[in-house]
Amino acid sequence: MNKHDSDSISKLLLDKGYKQTARIDDAHIILINTCTVREKAEEKALTLIGRLAPLKRKKPDMITGIIGCVAQEKGVNLLKRFPYLDLVIGPRNIYHMDEFLSKIKKVREKISSLDLACELTSFSKYNGYLKGRAARFVKIMEGCDNFCAYCIVPYVRGRETSLPAKEIIDEAKYLISQEVKEITLIGQNVNSYNAKNKPTFPGLLKELDDIEGLKRLRFTTSHPKDLSDELIGSFGELKTLCPHIHLPVQSGSDNILKLMNRGYTRDKYIGLIEYLRKTRPDLTITSDIIVGFPGEMEKDFEDSLRLIEEIEFDNLFSFKYSERPGTKASHLPGKIGKKEKQRRLSILQERQRGITLSKNRLLEETIQEILVEGPGKRGDDQLTGRTLGNKVVNFSARTNLKGQLVRVKILKGFQNSLLGELVDR
Ligand code: 5AD
Ligand code: SF4
Repeated sequence: MNKHDSDSISKLLLDKGYKQTARIDDAHIILINTCTVREKAEEKALTLIGRLAPLKRKKPDMITGIIGCVAQEKGVNLLKRFPYLDLVIGPRNIYHMDEFLSKIKKVREKISSLDLACELTSFSKYNGYLKGRAARFVKIMEGCDNFCAYCIVPYVRGRETSLPAKEIIDEAKYLISQEVKEITLIGQNVNSYNAKNKPTFPGLLKELDDIEGLKRLRFTTSHPKDLSDELIGSFGELKTLCPHIHLPVQSGSDNILKLMNRGYTRDKYIGLIEYLRKTRPDLTITSDIIVGFPGEMEKDFEDSLRLIEEIEFDNLFSFKYSERPGTKASHLPGKIGKKEKQRRLSILQERQRGITLSKNRLLEETIQEILVEGPGKRGDDQLTGRTLGNKVVNFSARTNLKGQLVRVKILKGFQNSLLGELVDR
């Protein structure tokens, strides 16, 4: 979501005649987009803001701004703490960036804009920005009404707000006309898209699936409590919907899921996975999990370990619980120490590494359709892309196949990627 927001701001400003520079010393405007989901992300953002001080001393006319979720959370206090900042802009207010910049240039006063009720607007379609990318994000909703006990997102991204279906479909058509092959719909909680109106999320998927020229459709992130039979059915019905779902479980213990306010039980989650796999046997499933939530006993942690072994996720993003100000969990008893959280995380990650590797090895000798995204990390003549199941594949090719769908035979499965050889286009 943050990457998408940064891109939206860039497009908006390029449209207004601003130019991008690759060298920070050449910049007249520096905007830092920030994340506050865990404390570490926030610390990184604050360190980066600190680094603006010497740049501003050298160039007092420079405009500096902090935008995104740290801006929303800390608000105008940031202007006091970092006197060289000119702008503090929350994630819902970024679409007015050119107006803020014009005002500063005219009257040279500090601006904060943190209204969470701000409507989402359509983004600029600046031609040429990120040209040549085969896969793009499209925002369909923003905000969250779930208030999971650990999570700061509902406080900094505001209430769930959906973009009109027409805008989404127009943007998808535009991207396809620019040779985009794969679209990932994004939102904090995509399956509550348009909760009270039509089309609902499965209806929107169907409309997008019918657009000529779209090859691959994905979405992220969905909440287990809102995963309807209709949405699961879409995996069996829609020709472009890729067989991958990211379905954060957060814990394998019913006690902890309840304290987290997740709205489902371990059994309910396992039932969803079974139904998904029955509907689409080749589905890859990834998830998020938190260890060391307040009150998590050894037994609860073992429930999480058992869950990941039972389900065998293709990949898992795991985190130590991080206390966020203002959340319900920050007032809960039973805080777990830093060292213990790290111990649990290491055990969990070690178990998952084995599962991920064996899942990747299962693909050896199979032929996979890959959407080529560009040169691989190794350079030379290596290309990289992703399978329908969203796994990264590197393979050799003499010609530039960027943006094309090709067939690749998988030779070897590693921890984080697969190695393949080109079969044909
Ligand atoms: N501490 C640790 N992890 C968190 N996440 C969200 N809030 C916290 C927190 N306070 C994780 C969840 C979520 C992912 C985006 O970040 O697992 O799914
Ligand atoms: Fe945070 Fe829960 Fe909303 Fe996800 S669903 S953004 S974890 S409150």
